Amino acid sequence: MTGLSLSLSGKRAVVSGSSRGVGLAVAKVLASAGADVAINYLADDKRAQAALDALKEINPSSISVKSDVSTPEGAGRLITEAEKAFGGVDILVNNAHGRIIRNMFLKSGWEEHQSHMDGILRPAFYLSRRVIDGMKSRDWGRIVNIGNNMLIQPVKGYSALTSAMGALLGFTKNLAAEAGPWGVTVNMVSPGFVLTEEAPNTNEAVRRAICDCTPLGRLALPEDAAGAVLFFCSEAGRFVTGANLSVDGGRIMG
Ligand SMILES: NC(=O)c1ccc[n+]([C@@H]2O[C@H](COP(=O)([O-])OP(=O)(O)OC[C@H]3O[C@@H](n4cnc5c(N)ncnc54)[C@H](OP(=O)(O)O)[C@@H]3O)[C@@H](O)[C@H]2O)c1
Repeated sequence: MTGLSLSLSGKRAVVSGSSRGVGLAVAKVLASAGADVAINYLADDKRAQAALDALKEINPSSISVKSDVSTPEGAGRLITEAEKAFGGVDILVNNAHGRIIRNMFLKSGWEEHQSHMDGILRPAFYLSRRVIDGMKSRDWGRIVNIGNNMLIQPVKGYSALTSAMGALLGFTKNLAAEAGPWGVTVNMVSPGFVLTEEAPNTNEAVRRAICDCTPLGRLALPEDAAGAVLFFCSEAGRFVTGANLSVDGGRIMG
């Protein structure tokens, strides 16, 4: 018996921005591994209820919290509700992101860069700050930040997104360095294009072009990203911290 299992039995998890897409897949995978899971959303009550119903079929203790995690109050409320329901938070997945806008650099202003920074870095900062003391007191914690493989291989027009993701990676590494002695690992999972329900907004030719330069020959499913998150959260991933793992079928290597 090595103790290196993927089980999350007895762990309490919060996944921000998780009523659909990658976040919901992460929530389901963590719940399937045995964790109590709090999902979170911003506005769409109907979608969130459907997500919670599906999650409760996996683990009846699951909860859903409507709150804007890009504000300190909203982030605080999400963690407080999870602590009330479960008694603490052992795992935090920072998945919520603000609105992503594509704009060529010559047409963009600083405001776009600032809004991406606010939408991506602020939630990760506020939520991590709120859970870290509890994790430290228990000598165990997992924080996983969801990034984007465009950080390694830029796509024209995404300067604001890539810059914010770069900031998130810096945040990941620095917190990993500070929190390691407390038994807390901090890592980043960076998918490429994911087949969420938003995918049809990207035209077919672009999707085919991505497949063509992906060694594994297809686009990512939300569950593909979730599998990597599970690894980092479990005992199997216990000696990895400060890492950024691309989950893109090998499209970007290195
Ligand atoms: N999709 C891709 O192709 C792709 C590729 C690479 C990386 N990623 C990364 O994967 C993550 C998830 O992306 P996704 O495409 O799956 O997301 P998504 O489908 O756009 O889902 C966004 C979720 O976040 C919630 N949300 C948005 N803003 C929020 C806020 N301020 N506070 C709380 N909840 C908020 C939404 O709730 P409402 O529905 O109620 O608004 C929804 O549940 C992101 O970090 C993204 O950068 C995605």
